[in-house]
Amino acid sequence: MSVISVPQDFNEDDLYVDLESIFGHPLFLKCEGFNFAGSIKLKAATEMVEAAERDGLLGPGSVLIESSSGNLGVALSMIAASKGYRFLCVTDSRCNLSTRLLMEALGAEVHVVTEAGEGGFLGARIDHVRALCASDDRYVWLNQYTNPNNGMAHYRRTAPAIARQFPDLDVLFVGAGTTGTLMGCARFFREWHRPVRIVAVDSAGSVTFGDTPGRRMIPGLGTSVRPPLLDTSYVDEVVHVPEADTIRACHRLARRGFLFGGSTGTVVSGATSWLAAHGDENPTAVAIAPDLGERYLETVYQTNWVHDLYGEHVLAPPAAVAPSPAV
Ligand SMILES: Cc1ncc(COP(=O)(O)O)c(C=O)c1O
Repeated sequence: MSVISVPQDFNEDDLYVDLESIFGHPLFLKCEGFNFAGSIKLKAATEMVEAAERDGLLGPGSVLIESSSGNLGVALSMIAASKGYRFLCVTDSRCNLSTRLLMEALGAEVHVVTEAGEGGFLGARIDHVRALCASDDRYVWLNQYTNPNNGMAHYRRTAPAIARQFPDLDVLFVGAGTTGTLMGCARFFREWHRPVRIVAVDSAGSVTFGDTPGRRMIPGLGTSVRPPLLDTSYVDEVVHVPEADTIRACHRLARRGFLFGGSTGTVVSGATSWLAAHGDENPTAVAIAPDLGERYLETVYQTNWVHDLYGEHVLAPPAAVAPSPAV
């Protein structure tokens, strides 16, 4: 039995889905969505808030402010409510409606940036946060893009939890947004007793690893400005996944009863293509699923949205092979 009195004290860290029967490759998917914030961002939020309190940056009267595409915003809304802080989240028009409503239900104020600036939506969000911070010194900006405690959360918690369950781990697939998860896990496994290949999975059109900027509609992964936390010397390989493949992977999982978020579709698609290309190696492989699918019902799992953005045939089954004529 688990009994808690603050929501951040519960987090399921030991649940994996074996994807072999769905995708035909041995791959264990670590589920990070089973906590009261519904995502892996609970860990980063907790670590950043506790460090700011320890350092005396955050205290009674402070107003937390953050730029988030959604999940960190939800996690901070929850922690702020639990600890009695005010919280203002700056997001953009790609943020799912349900995520915004969730933050508001938890008592947060949400500002939605509707125009992308020169640095894309992310740049516009950061400009808005900076302007607010300059206007009132009660604002405390944790800044997930530069805060080392973002990665530290995964160095201290996510990666050791994987290492405990998979002592023979060969390859780890991690999606890259701020790259906190990626860098925290990569740093931990660099110091581990055996080499682990770290494969970063990013959305096609994200500039994080130097891809040409392009349209990206699924929040969580990818950037329009290179993330300052990223140190590529810790990353062995990078896989870029077009969003149409993300959609296909999400729906394939859903058809087997596993409703995951958009970035999980990207990570699973990237991981299974990588495993297909390394078929003879048979590695022990783990991928990280950052959240679950209910926040994506009006996007990734909504037929009109999918057809409008990725075409009517994106989810069509592969064309049946015509039977050979009888001889
Ligand atoms: C759904 C989802 N997936 C992946 C990520 C990326 O994680 P990170 O910022 O640690 O790179 C995020 C971050 O917000 C997210 O919300």
